[in-house]
Amino acid sequence: MRDGEAVGTGRGLGIDADRRAERVRLVEVVGGQTDDCFAEAVRIGLGSMPKWLPCRYFYDTAGSRLFERICDLPEYYLTRIEERLLRTNRREMVERFGTTPVIVELGSGSSRKTRWLLEAACARFGTIEYMPIDVSGPLLKVAAEALTDALAGLRVTALVGDYRAALDLLRKRRECPRLFLFLGSSLGNYERDSAIALLRHIHDASHAGDRLLLGTDLVKDAAILEAAYNDASGLTAQFNKNLLLRINRELGGRFDVGSFIHRAHYDAARSRVEMHLVSRHEQQVRIDKLGMVAAFSEGETIHTENSHKYTITELQELAAGSGFVEELAWTDEAGWYRVQMWRRV
Ligand code: AVI
Repeated sequence: MRDGEAVGTGRGLGIDADRRAERVRLVEVVGGQTDDCFAEAVRIGLGSMPKWLPCRYFYDTAGSRLFERICDLPEYYLTRIEERLLRTNRREMVERFGTTPVIVELGSGSSRKTRWLLEAACARFGTIEYMPIDVSGPLLKVAAEALTDALAGLRVTALVGDYRAALDLLRKRRECPRLFLFLGSSLGNYERDSAIALLRHIHDASHAGDRLLLGTDLVKDAAILEAAYNDASGLTAQFNKNLLLRINRELGGRFDVGSFIHRAHYDAARSRVEMHLVSRHEQQVRIDKLGMVAAFSEGETIHTENSHKYTITELQELAAGSGFVEELAWTDEAGWYRVQMWRRV
């Protein structure tokens, strides 16, 4: 309806755009993902044995769009369960705060699930400042505009860049209290030491009494996990192979994507789903801008992602190891996924 009103008169459109601009700010934070970092990661990763690439480079514009579609797949239960836990328990989640919190989200993407929480926070406190952090500026802008259109009490200051740079910026600001969100089991994409380091970084950027709402996937049957990362429609395969297309687009790579196979398997000993790209045959691939040739033997893989699955004990150890205590937790009936609220001590 608001769009209809705005289109009716040019003046209305201007006022609408001005109001929106007052409520949405995009701030670039130094230290974000740059082309040089990607080039360096490819040079190092494809020059290593075994070959690997950091999973954060999945998320260029095409990769971010593919990931949004993965979240809707029937096999990818993570988003669906997390969204249900947030929707069902949103009031209890925001009621922990005596005064209005600033809500900071790491890796917000489309902010789709967060909307439930923001809605509950606006209903409880009237006006809320939301600070999503993401490497994709265009995605942040679209998400922020959709949210402010839907929620009258919302102000958005979106931080474009990587988590660490954004957290460093937040450390210098004093507003209190804060509710940090780290959802979607994104923590699972970090190795244990890096996960603790990132949680400590959040701890250092916060104050006593701030809280972290963390969504994590739990250890379960291998068949369920492998189906989630090997969907029947082949979307996850496309998402994985987009890394090769990104090398072609940005670094002058000559990958023939059809000569690689997507593979995802659960390593129970390490409690993680590993994703790989497997070379169908022996081949040599030139990457013009790096002046390098990557040689593959038949069956050789590029390791592109780890997605760790946790037990409740491990999660509580992570909290203790990073200066938080668990205050509340919500799990689905099947015990597949867990959202927990930790308080910073
Ligand atoms: C973003 N991250 C938590 C997803 C995951 O489940 O590890 C990325 C993903 N990889 C394949 N499917 C989804």
